[in-house]
Amino acid sequence: MILTEIDHIAIAVRDLQAAIDYYAEAFGAQVHHREVVESDGVEEALVKVADSYIQLTAATRPDSPIAKSIEKRGEGLHHVGYRVDNCADALAAMVAAGATPIDKVPRPGSRGTTVAFIHPKGSFGTLIELVQENRDDNS
Ligand code: CO
Repeated sequence: MILTEIDHIAIAVRDLQAAIDYYAEAFGAQVHHREVVESDGVEEALVKVADSYIQLTAATRPDSPIAKSIEKRGEGLHHVGYRVDNCADALAAMVAAGATPIDKVPRPGSRGTTVAFIHPKGSFGTLIELVQENRDDNS
């Protein structure tokens, strides 16, 4: 088994602060990590649940994938992050199983991770992100 944990579920929201406030009020949730990923045009707030995260994600510009997703499908569940020990190996295994990669090679993700996205088409309709933690620079 290549997967080691559900790393995160990502929820696309219009107003990040409103979503953070709602999770705080409803669950007493505190933001564990907050980061703007300029290359992806997103700002995310991570709420830690055991060893997984809820990733509230908002667009920072109109052409970001999150903005386009909200425009098309509204707010809501955007992707699932599966934690793996080695992102490149997991990506190769998925491609061998017939998956369509969005990222042909792993790339840097938020909080110092290494990630690769897999297209929902061919993966039963779910956008999958493979997440490798790099413990040294993990916050
Ligand atoms: Co993600």
